Amino acid sequence: GEDKVVLTSREGRVAILTLNRPKALNALNSEVMREIVRLTAELDRDPGVGAILITGSEKAFAAGADIKEMEDRTVMEMMLADWFSDWEMLERVRTPMVAAVSGFALGGGCELAMMCDLIIASDTAKFGQPEIKLGVIPGMGGSQRLTRAVGKYKAMDMILTGRMVEAEEAERMGLVSRLVPAASLMDEAMAAARTIAEFSKPATITAKEATNRSFEVGLREGLLHERRTFHALFSGSDQKEGMSAFREKRAAVFKHG
Ligand code: HXC
Repeated sequence: GEDKVVLTSREGRVAILTLNRPKALNALNSEVMREIVRLTAELDRDPGVGAILITGSEKAFAAGADIKEMEDRTVMEMMLADWFSDWEMLERVRTPMVAAVSGFALGGGCELAMMCDLIIASDTAKFGQPEIKLGVIPGMGGSQRLTRAVGKYKAMDMILTGRMVEAEEAERMGLVSRLVPAASLMDEAMAAARTIAEFSKPATITAKEATNRSFEVGLREGLLHERRTFHALFSGSDQKEGMSAFREKRAAVFKHG
C-alpha cells in the first residue's frame, strides 16, 4: 500500500522498484536500504526477471541518505551497525539494473544511481554529492564510483564544492547513459530495461560481470575473463538461437539458457 517505502511492480520480465517517501524527497533511511537490498536480492533469484528498474518521483530520485535519521548517531553506533555497508549487497545483484532519474539525485541518491548499470536521466535531473556541506563526505561509494565514472577533476569539483550539476552537464561528464525529455523518461527507461530483459540472461549477466571486472583487475586478466566467458556462452541454447536467427533473418527468441 501507500505506506510502503519501496513500491514494486512487474511488466513482463522487467521488475520496477519505486522509492516512495514523497514527504522526504525519497531520503534513504535504514528501512529503504533494507527494502532495496531485500527486494533486489529476491528479484535477482527470480528467473522470470531480466532487468530491474529503480526510480523515484518526478521531483526526486532520492535527496540522499536520511539526514534526520543520522544526525544524532555516535561513532560507535555507526561502526557497530556498519552504517551504509548493506548497500554493498547491491554489488552482488547480477541482473542488470537501470536507474530512471528525475529531479534530485543527491548524496546517497546519486550513489544509488551509480550502483545501477545504466542511468537514464530526465532533463530535470540534478546530480550532486553535497555531503561536504553537512560536514561529512560521501558514504555510499561517491568518492570511488563517481571518480571511476567521470575522472578525478570532475569528481573533485562535485565532492569538494558540493555543487549540483544539471542533467546536461552530467551527461557530458559521462555520469548519464541517456538524457531524455522529462515526459518520456519512463518510456525510455522501460524500453531500455525491456530490451535488456528480453536478451539471453546468461549473456546479460555475464556481460555485466565482465564490464564490472574492468574496475577490479588489470587489462590482461580482464580480457582473459571476457574471452573465457565468451567461450562458455557457446554451451547454451541461446547462442545457437541468436546466431541461427541471424542467418535465417528472423528475430531471436531466447530461452535464457
Ligand atoms: C532527510 C530530507 C532530505 C534528506 C530532503 N528532506 N532531503 N530529509 N534527509 N537527505 C526533507 C526535508 O527536510 C523536507 O522535510 C522535505 O524533504 C522537502 O525538502 P525541502 O528541503 O523542503 O525541499 P526543497 O526546498 O525543494 O529542497 C530540495 C533539496 C533539499 C535541495 C534537495 O531538500 C536538500 O538540500 N536536501 C538535502 C540534500 C543532501 O544534503 N543530501 C545528502 C545527504 S548525506 P520537512 O519535513 O523538513 O519539510 C548522504 C550521504 C551520507 O546522502 C554520507 C554521510 C556519511
